[in-house]
Amino acid sequence: MRTLGIGLLGLGNVGSGLVKLLEDNAEAIAARLGARLEVRRIAVREVDKPRMVEVDRSLVTTDVEAVLADPAVQIVVELVGGEVAAREFVLGAIERGKHVVTANKALLAAHGDEIFNAAERRGVDIFYEASVCGGVPLIRALRDGLASDKIDEFIGIVNGTSNYILTRMADEQRPFDEILADAQAQGYAEADPGLDVDGWDAAHKLCVLCSLCFGARVPVTEMLVDGLREIAPIDFDYARRIGCVLKPLVIGRDHASDIEARVHVAMIPERWLLATVSGVFNGVYVSSQALGPSLYYGRGAGMMPTAVAVVSDVIEVARDILSAASSGLPLRLRIRDWRERPVRPRGELVSRFYLRFRVRDRPGVLAELDGVLAREGIAVREVSREVGETVILTTQAAREQAMQRAFEGFARIDAVLERPRLIRMMD
Ligand SMILES: NC(=O)c1ccc[n+]([C@@H]2O[C@H](COP(=O)([O-])OP(=O)(O)OC[C@H]3O[C@@H](n4cnc5c(N)ncnc54)[C@H](OP(=O)(O)O)[C@@H]3O)[C@@H](O)[C@H]2O)c1
Repeated sequence: MRTLGIGLLGLGNVGSGLVKLLEDNAEAIAARLGARLEVRRIAVREVDKPRMVEVDRSLVTTDVEAVLADPAVQIVVELVGGEVAAREFVLGAIERGKHVVTANKALLAAHGDEIFNAAERRGVDIFYEASVCGGVPLIRALRDGLASDKIDEFIGIVNGTSNYILTRMADEQRPFDEILADAQAQGYAEADPGLDVDGWDAAHKLCVLCSLCFGARVPVTEMLVDGLREIAPIDFDYARRIGCVLKPLVIGRDHASDIEARVHVAMIPERWLLATVSGVFNGVYVSSQALGPSLYYGRGAGMMPTAVAVVSDVIEVARDILSAASSGLPLRLRIRDWRERPVRPRGELVSRFYLRFRVRDRPGVLAELDGVLAREGIAVREVSREVGETVILTTQAAREQAMQRAFEGFARIDAVLERPRLIRMMD
């Protein structure tokens, strides 16, 4: 039986998962593939560091170049993360004619164009199933399962850490800072949580999804990206009263004229299937013209779930190599035409809004808030006076730019004690 060689860059969480999965399921993989997969070289930063899995120490090196240049390596798996070194390694692998598997959404979001173009020129493939929703075979479903269909919209929960934090805030009625600290202590959130809780990890994934679903390049700098630091227990109380839950969403829509791309927490009806996606789980709802709605659900991160996706990519590349069926075209071009599509400006995006104010209790203050909104053409739907100084308003659908101007108006009202908090709502 033929053996194909893997050059592994990174032996952290996911790299260790890959080594374990290849060992645990070696026979089943060989039977399905008709060949064996073998890790032939492993590059890390520190050779002597203790590892989560047993590996032959003679395979481990700090010399990435040696891994890329090794003729026994046909497939390079990039699992170092980050953008700078990973870009150099992936481009280096492509230059040497190696197919690449990566789980790195940050890399694809920042340098996807350059990498896909280089792969196209060199006639090798880039596979990236693990970059969105970890172990859930979402990329494959979008690329293959829906290849004959036209996707209009997707709404997803793609950052497990944010979903875990919001789920616990809802269940335990405790503030963001406390739950975040707990999540960090338990290893569910990074010491530097910004990438997750400020929405940037989700934005990187949204960029990958827009390219797959709409054939559109949407730079993260052009998306509406908002995090969850300002969400408070009272927001969950209100959501519950109106039959909603709070979820950290990515939303992509293909309007005929342009692409809508946004990342933010939203109040969604609890009857939506996405409302039941809790804890660290991920879920993505896709609406396509012929199939209609479909939903993808599962573990979006973790050593073994992510390794499942990475190894499935390796198997797919291996099949191509073995059957010589590879068209030589990179994945992006196999999916659909790639077009420069305009991105809908942030200010033009439309939502209903939930606004939470802290106000000095004096006559006329509600009328003043309403007046500011009315001047921007925003209609109030409901007003709720909560205990203490809190007032909650919900609005009818309005543009982001109108709401931004309304915030300037709120700042001029002396009874408004701090900048209001805003959550977008979806019906
Ligand atoms: N963890 C998850 O659940 C998950 C889920 C989906 C996608 N991903 C993606 O998978 C990738 C890997 O994540 P991870 O959690 O496995 O990361 P990790 O645990 O931090 O491991 C990174 C590995 O890369 C090595 N490395 C870093 N810089 C290097 C360099 N310049 N040269 C050589 N080796 C280098 C490190 O070496 P040392 O061990 O010697 O320090 C380490 O073994 C990332 O792109 C991440 O976004 C992760």
